[in-house]
Amino acid sequence: MPRKVLIQLDCDPQPSVFDAVVAVDAGADVLLRHGGVTPENAVPLVHGAMFTRGVADLSDTAIFVGGSDVAAAEAVAERVRRTFFGPVRVGVMVDPNGANTTAGAAVVVAARHVPLGGAAGSACRAIVLGGTGPVGQRVARLLAGKGAHVTIASRSVERARQVAGSVTARVPGARMETIESLGGCLPGSALAKAIGMADVVVAAGAAGATLLDAAGRAAASSARVIIDLNAVPPAGIEGVVATDKARPDGAAVLYGALGVGGTKMKIHRAAIARIFASTDAFLDAEDLLVIGESL
Ligand SMILES: NC(=O)c1ccc[n+]([C@@H]2O[C@H](COP(=O)([O-])OP(=O)(O)OC[C@H]3O[C@@H](n4cnc5c(N)ncnc54)[C@H](OP(=O)(O)O)[C@@H]3O)[C@@H](O)[C@H]2O)c1
Repeated sequence: MPRKVLIQLDCDPQPSVFDAVVAVDAGADVLLRHGGVTPENAVPLVHGAMFTRGVADLSDTAIFVGGSDVAAAEAVAERVRRTFFGPVRVGVMVDPNGANTTAGAAVVVAARHVPLGGAAGSACRAIVLGGTGPVGQRVARLLAGKGAHVTIASRSVERARQVAGSVTARVPGARMETIESLGGCLPGSALAKAIGMADVVVAAGAAGATLLDAAGRAAASSARVIIDLNAVPPAGIEGVVATDKARPDGAAVLYGALGVGGTKMKIHRAAIARIFASTDAFLDAEDLLVIGESL
């Protein structure tokens, strides 16, 4: 029986150790770790995956695309996709900087507490703070794909509008709004009103950046689930602890980054198993969410 070979294509100079360890834990027998991967130099690496084993054995080879530069990794993933032809392909998982698994896990945990879809007017209202980063953009996209009404908050409303536009391009009919968060969540501000109407609040700001202080947290009076994806102190939402996992707080439950992390790791491991099960698998954020929903 051929051994399971996972080929790591990572845009960073040093391929991620985290992704390597998870791959081994998820059943990869052999890791071929490549750093400094670009769309240009990826092609011969992908050919190496495609042409070394017969088509019947290609399911024992798979590719993981990663790296801290999410846009660069997505360009590599696209080149990988275009390099395959017919049945000469291997399973692929795309999870640069953990953005796809993290966003998928956030949406899976939110859905445990609030129905995300619904008709216009009665749909779940979600707000994504720091919604312009790689993780926040994907959280917004996945929530919109489930039918939620999503507000993207950013210190720059222009950046928020760009993200809303790219979400709408991928999710036809997405119900999107944007809001500027620069002035903070002062009483009576537009941000405070948007927070007050949200059923789901997700903070996806940069590591160590506080996006909602205690008063801002208190403004989330309708929230059923509050998720802070920042694990680096101080908290992204004051009062949320990184280890929180459905900790009740008034009418809401709180999740911190580590509380979401267990689901993220399950999604990651299940996805590695999936790319060894099907050469047609090309797992992006939406596919990883489906895996998370099935766990
Ligand atoms: N648990 C996990 O496995 C895992 C995996 C990946 C990421 N994460 C965490 O998820 C969060 C989001 O990750 P990311 O890579 O998307 O983050 P990011 O790109 O570093 O930042 C996200 C957004 O935060 C806002 N921001 C940046 N600096 C800020 C500041 N000083 N004050 C207020 N807002 C600021 C920016 O939005 P605007 O400029 O538009 O306001 C930015 O687009 C991070 O906390 C990260 O550590 C966790």
